[in-house]
Amino acid sequence: MNSYLDIYRPLLLWYKNNQSRSLMPWRKTKDPYKIWVSEIMLQQTQIARAAPFYNRWIEKFPSIKSVARAPEDKILKMWAGLGYYRRATNFHKACAFLFKEHHAKFPTSIAAFRELPGVGDYISSAVFSIAFNEPIPVYDVNVNRVASRLFELNTTRLASKKKAISLLSKMVTESKNARDFNQAIMDFGRTVCTINSPKCHNCIISKKCQGFINSNIMKFPIIKKKPQKPHYRVVVAFIWKKGKILVNKRPPEKMLGGMWEFPGGKIKTNETPEEALHREIMEEFSILINIEKPVDRFTHTYSHFSIDIEGYKCKYVSGKISQESNMPYKWLHPHQLSSLPFPSASEKFFNKLI
Ligand code: ADE
Repeated sequence: MNSYLDIYRPLLLWYKNNQSRSLMPWRKTKDPYKIWVSEIMLQQTQIARAAPFYNRWIEKFPSIKSVARAPEDKILKMWAGLGYYRRATNFHKACAFLFKEHHAKFPTSIAAFRELPGVGDYISSAVFSIAFNEPIPVYDVNVNRVASRLFELNTTRLASKKKAISLLSKMVTESKNARDFNQAIMDFGRTVCTINSPKCHNCIISKKCQGFINSNIMKFPIIKKKPQKPHYRVVVAFIWKKGKILVNKRPPEKMLGGMWEFPGGKIKTNETPEEALHREIMEEFSILINIEKPVDRFTHTYSHFSIDIEGYKCKYVSGKISQESNMPYKWLHPHQLSSLPFPSASEKFFNKLI
C-alpha cells in the first residue's frame, strides 16, 4: 500500500514550527463555536484582516446563545467590513436554531451540523477536523493548489477533484492528526506553494511532488476561466423630509438581505438616472419626490458584479408610503445612519449627508 508518510510528516513538522498562533487567535481554542466563527470569516478574508474581526466578534458574542439572542441588525453591524453578508445572516439563523432546539449546544454529529444554514463541505470539514480532530480533509483554494501540483491533477474535472480529496483523506487518516494536517496544508499552500512564485527549492515535499519532478509546477492548478463580471448602473435617492432621510431594509432573500439601503435601484437601458429614480420610488413606496441635485457617485465591486452608484438629493413631495414588499423602512437623522448595517457602497455617501 502507498504510504503518504513522506508528505504528511514533513508538513506536520513544518506546521509545528510555523503555526503563527499569535497571528491566528482561533488556534488557541478548541471551542467549536469559535472555530466555526473563524472559518466563516476565513472563507472570505485574509488571515491578517480576519484576526481583529474575530477578536471583536468573540468579545461581543462569546457563545451560540449570545448570537442567537442578538437582533439581526447587531449581527450585520458587527459583520460590516467582512462582506458576504449572507454568511452572517445564515450564521445567525443557525445559532438561533441551536439555541431553540439544542439548548444552544454545538451539534455532536457532522450530519447534524451540515443541516444548519450556511454549513457546507468546507465549513463542516474545517470545524469538525479542527475542533474534534475528525479525520476529514478540508478543500479550499490553497489545498487545491498543493494537491493538484503534488499529484498533477486537473481538478476542474470532478473525477480528478474526487481523486485529490480521496488522497487527502488517506493522508489525514494516516496522520491521525487531522487538526494540524488540514491547517498545515492550508498554510503551506498560502505561504510556500504559492500561485506565482512557489518556493520549490526550499520545499520540504518537493521530492514527492509530481509537478516538481516533471517541471510542471506552473501548469497546475488548472483554473477554469471565470466569466466577466457584469456591470450595472444604480441610482439611489436621499429623500429628505423634516430633516430626516428615508431608508429601507432589503428583503431577506435578495443579495445583501437584511441590510439597510437608500431607496433606488438599477437604471434600465435607455433610462436617465432621474427617470429610474422616479420609477423605483413610485414602484417601491408609492410616493412622489422631487429630485434636486446629484450628490456624488462611486464605483463598487462585489464578488460577482460591479456597479456605478449615483446618489441624488431629493425632497419628499406627497403620498403615504405603501409598499407591496412590506419591508421595514425608517426616517433617520443623518447621524443615525451609522447605527444600522448598510452595504459599504451606501456607506460611501454618509459623509455627504451629515
Ligand atoms: N484558511 C481557512 N481556515 C484556515 C485555517 N484554520 N488555517 C489556515 N488557513 C486557513
